[in-house]
Amino acid sequence: MSDFLPGLEGVAATQSAISYIDGEKGLLSYRGYPIETLAKYSSFEETTLLLLNGELPTISELNDFTNQLRSHYRIKYHIREMMHHFPATGDPMDMLQTAVSSLGMFYPGTECLTDPDSSEEAKYVHDMTVNIIAQMAPLVAMWEHMRAGYDPLKPREDLSVAENLLYMFSGKEPDPLMAKIMDVCLILHAEHTLNASTFAALVSGSTLATPYSVISGAIGCLSGPLHGGANQRVTGMLAEIGTPDKVAAWVDDKLAKKEVIWGMGHREYKVKDPRAKILNGLVKELVESRGGELDQLFDTAIKLEEVCEDRLAHKGVYPNVDFYSGILYAEMGIPNDQFTAIFAVARSAGWLAHWRQQINNNRIYRPTQIYTGQKDRIYVAKADR
Ligand code: COA
Repeated sequence: MSDFLPGLEGVAATQSAISYIDGEKGLLSYRGYPIETLAKYSSFEETTLLLLNGELPTISELNDFTNQLRSHYRIKYHIREMMHHFPATGDPMDMLQTAVSSLGMFYPGTECLTDPDSSEEAKYVHDMTVNIIAQMAPLVAMWEHMRAGYDPLKPREDLSVAENLLYMFSGKEPDPLMAKIMDVCLILHAEHTLNASTFAALVSGSTLATPYSVISGAIGCLSGPLHGGANQRVTGMLAEIGTPDKVAAWVDDKLAKKEVIWGMGHREYKVKDPRAKILNGLVKELVESRGGELDQLFDTAIKLEEVCEDRLAHKGVYPNVDFYSGILYAEMGIPNDQFTAIFAVARSAGWLAHWRQQINNNRIYRPTQIYTGQKDRIYVAKADR
């Protein structure tokens, strides 16, 4: 019998060549390329191809893939009609999970998934990968208009995934700095080894379920506040704190009550999350572009990081990726409850890379358990209980 390790901490559940974390040194790489390099030089489209295929694409491979994504931005009429009937108060992650699983009804056929070497499987896997990655961002942005009672904007095929996302949210030509920041946010959130939602994707994928089931399951898993849901709590927390002078007392009160500080701590990192460092740099770039004017949200966040370092560093708790991403999305005019859905847009690349790796060398997941219940009980008739 094996030992039970709560949270499966330290348990290797797969072999993967997709990404690597050194939590002691604060390093993250995708396919061997440091995240800092990709954030500086790559794009979400290029990083997605790197994650999926293991190599940086040539110019023509990247152009082909980009064009394929753009030509699949448009969401089917029936899905749009269905979304019109969703309650306006519905959570964007529930909308996204429902829409993605509904999309699967239009693309049946996983029969080919039993032969990784067949051209039929390769085509199905490629087409579905493009379809899902292309449609995630338009779905999220469309919902913003639909829940307000308006028709959604049509996606624009002349724009990148990040630009089109911003365009479909605001209806305005995307600001170049904001589009660059969104693109970096998508790169940083695209993949992160075997986190809870990626593990959920592997488990579903191992049953040879459709990629739409795999991704909708992963979206549901990501929605929890201990995973992707943390970013939207960060801005709420900063608003609750108010001004920087109130931070120290607020943190001490939370810690005394044994409550968590959102956007802090990570199972893998014992130092500051490298993605939080990059986002912190983007926050500074944004502030500089505004002539040094610091929004109160940033001001409070910087003070919160300082106070948390003082109170929590000895436990290896530092800002994670969610700490700054929410602040940046808020600056882009994206509503708080959409932050996690944007995380899902990015992570669809990593989920699909892992799904492809799983089905290429598949064995169904079937872990064991340690039974703690009773045995050999005698059934008592209802009248005698
Ligand atoms: N605020 C305050 N204390 C925290 C903390 C936080 N955000 N994160 C961890 N700690 C403390 C724990 O209370 C624990 O203290 P103890 O040893 O005195 O009991 C210690 O640090 C170790 O934390 P633990 O809960 O064992 O870490 P974990 O690996 O199980 O959990 C998270 C990791 C991410 C779930 C956890 O850090 C958390 O809840 N963070 C806030 C939510 C968040 O931002 N999630 C997004 C992750 S990208």
